[in-house]
Amino acid sequence: MHQQEDGKPRPFCLQWTFAGANSPARIQLVVWLRNFRDMENTILVTGGAGFIGSNFILQRMERASDAIVNLDKLTYAGNLHNLESIANDRRYEFVHADIADRALLRGLLERREPRAIVHFAAESHVDRSIREPDDFIRTNVDGTFALLEEVRAYWNGLAKPHRADFRFLHVSTDEVYGSLGSADLAFSETTAYAPNSPYAASKAASDHFVRAYHHTYGLPVLTTNCSNNYGRFQFPEKLIPLMILNARDGNPLPVYGDGQNVRDWLFVEDHCEAIATVLARGRVGQTYNIGGWNEKRNIDIVETICDIVDEIAGLRGAPCRSLITFVKDRPGHDRRYAMDASKIERELGWRPLETFETGIRKTVSWYLEHEEWVRDVTSGSYRQWIETHYSS
Ligand code: NAD
Ligand code: TYD
Repeated sequence: MHQQEDGKPRPFCLQWTFAGANSPARIQLVVWLRNFRDMENTILVTGGAGFIGSNFILQRMERASDAIVNLDKLTYAGNLHNLESIANDRRYEFVHADIADRALLRGLLERREPRAIVHFAAESHVDRSIREPDDFIRTNVDGTFALLEEVRAYWNGLAKPHRADFRFLHVSTDEVYGSLGSADLAFSETTAYAPNSPYAASKAASDHFVRAYHHTYGLPVLTTNCSNNYGRFQFPEKLIPLMILNARDGNPLPVYGDGQNVRDWLFVEDHCEAIATVLARGRVGQTYNIGGWNEKRNIDIVETICDIVDEIAGLRGAPCRSLITFVKDRPGHDRRYAMDASKIERELGWRPLETFETGIRKTVSWYLEHEEWVRDVTSGSYRQWIETHYSS
């Protein structure tokens, strides 16, 4: 394929052979070629250097022929090491940028002409949102709005067939639905929003904007609301990797409150496959709940991790369970999340493949085997967060 000055492939360079530079025939030919150009291969992923985004990119590069453009600001949660194996792949491009940078977005959309956006970029940690909510508004609300505006302008400029095929997939969370009592039915797509943390409120706001852009402007959007993910590449401020690494190092395992809070847990690769399924076959304007059918109390998760670490790393003195320490509860801590993921199964045939028992084993092993990755992400600002957060 021919190269442009910037080194990017330029499809359909034959146009120069058939017509003179400014002739009406050439202009017509260029318009015709643009309309029929193969757009189906480029996906713009935002936040692709984070936990779920990097798993999604690696899975897509392996299972599909899509070209992927990864736009990421590389906050503390973004890590390009996750994507080292594809860094030199011709189908992959990394762009270091903020989703709120509208001029950059405009140029990028114009240059790469994606047929879909998969929007992961967000501030994602509830505890951080409680301490310092500002960045959550800046990225999750203002950033999503900036992205929607630029995507809307780009989409309006597409030729008719491409407009119809285009998709904006917004990745969201079950936390927008609020908290359940122990006897309540699981969240469904029609459950009313009742976000409780600044993180959940910022995600709910972004979900509403995405919905409104479909309702008002016809932008072909899809929204997925997923439960708690676990797996490789998750930043160790979240429950599962934090507990694995503390257990490995013989440090206290800080369980908030009474440890009876319930979350639904899904292996990250199942989530990525669900997103790909919704992108391919989801009905425009719809939301899809994604979950693992796997509700667990926090204390049970921590005890399971302890037992696997003891088994893999070998007992060094007392069992890991003796490290469990109940600490002050998170303010406004949601008691229970549970997802009814029957719509995505019924309509699109997706169901999780990994069981919690196999997924958690793979995850513990991965963290124990990837010391260098762990060392890279647990320096500097990470240590500062752990010291500040768990000392109060
Ligand atoms: P993460 O915190 O690991 O990664 C977020 C990524 O976004 C990072 O690479 C970061 O650098 C990037 N980013 C942050 N602000 C940005 C900005 N302004 N511009 C460009 N990039 C920016 O998050 P995650 O756990 O991978 O979550 C991804 C998405 O999935 C989020 O939208 C989150 O709300 C949603 N989600 C997460 C879970 C979960 O359990 N982790 C569950 C359901 C939904
Ligand atoms: P987390 O991984 O932060 O995800 P979320 O708040 O988005 O569900 O936390 C999962 C659960 O684990 C949540 O109920 C809070 C609890 N938790 C602890 O008990 N101790 C900890 O150190 C952390 C980080 C979380």
